[in-house]
Amino acid sequence: MGDLGEFDSSFIQALEHRPKPNATEAQGIPLIDLSPISCHEDVETNSETDPASIEELVKQVGSACKNWGFFQVINHGVPLDRRQRIEAVAREFFAQSLEEKRRVKRDEVKIMGYYDREHTKNVRDWKEVFDFGVEDPTLVAASTDPDDDSVAYWTNQWPEYPPKFRETCEEYTRDVGKLIMKLMELIALSLGLKAKRFHEYFKDQTSTIRLNYYPPCPSPELALGVGRHRDNGVLTVLAQDEVGGLQVKRRTDGEWIGVKPTPGAFIINVGDIMQVWTNEAYRSAEHRVVVNSVKERLSIPFFLNPAHYTEVKPLEELIDEEHPPKYRPYVWGKFQVIRKRSNFIKLNVDNIQIDDFRIAP
Ligand code: OGA
Ligand code: NI
Repeated sequence: MGDLGEFDSSFIQALEHRPKPNATEAQGIPLIDLSPISCHEDVETNSETDPASIEELVKQVGSACKNWGFFQVINHGVPLDRRQRIEAVAREFFAQSLEEKRRVKRDEVKIMGYYDREHTKNVRDWKEVFDFGVEDPTLVAASTDPDDDSVAYWTNQWPEYPPKFRETCEEYTRDVGKLIMKLMELIALSLGLKAKRFHEYFKDQTSTIRLNYYPPCPSPELALGVGRHRDNGVLTVLAQDEVGGLQVKRRTDGEWIGVKPTPGAFIINVGDIMQVWTNEAYRSAEHRVVVNSVKERLSIPFFLNPAHYTEVKPLEELIDEEHPPKYRPYVWGKFQVIRKRSNFIKLNVDNIQIDDFRIAP
């Protein structure tokens, strides 16, 4: 990727999307302390915790989702060594030769694995990724045809090297999976719903975890590690290392704000499905990744996605005469399959997005 004499034009962003040399650093992206819930399995029913501190936490989560769609959490209960171990195996994996990494490469059939040619909005990203499913195998829709309800499975591909790669990834999945469901409980409570309101959607979840590796880039002023986008699932929990590069578009003025790495913290962001479920009470935030010429960077997002057969639409509890639905229902699995396929080809049209289902006011 890095040894091209001339900078490869497929990575070059249009002028208006290139990063500014001195971006503003995170001021005001909420930092939330989860200690009131971090040692408990269940948000609602624990006797030791003071209900007032939970109530306060629920308020903080609600206002962060409403105003930013982005926040960081500390004291979240995921042990630090879980995170250090997955970062260590990820670094070892990406440090191998391209030939080694391509032994587990992803293609149109094998959806999980290694990939270094992803495009966001038709410009190539300056990154390499390794994807795996939270459920293995993951039950998915077999085709994009709305009348075809046959199913398929995505199975994980695991490299032989480094040793313990698979088990380290699976342990991380379990711990962050618990955290993400606790966050969903807090979010449900913040919307005035029962804590477990969302659980039914995740029985056959199609969630994935991605290891993102951003090599140093010779022309960081022209390219992006990931172009601007919104995550299309429900919620994302991201671990980033100390290098920094993630930026969020601030709602109030459209400015790109850097999310300052906070040791041990996870970054949480609202995805498009949450935006539809909440009928836009909580909106997904646009974000991107800038790269630099000296340091490699690693990040690990857990993308929480519902079962493929989930019909995504505004929750009935949040709809009434004053709040009519802003979206028509769509089937998540069909959407997901279209998105995954389009990652392999450079499309000349804009990709499928939730705006396609928005009801005009
Ligand atoms: C993503 C993403 C952010 C990061 O993979 O969808 O937004 O910091 N990554 O790597
Ligand atoms: Ni993202």
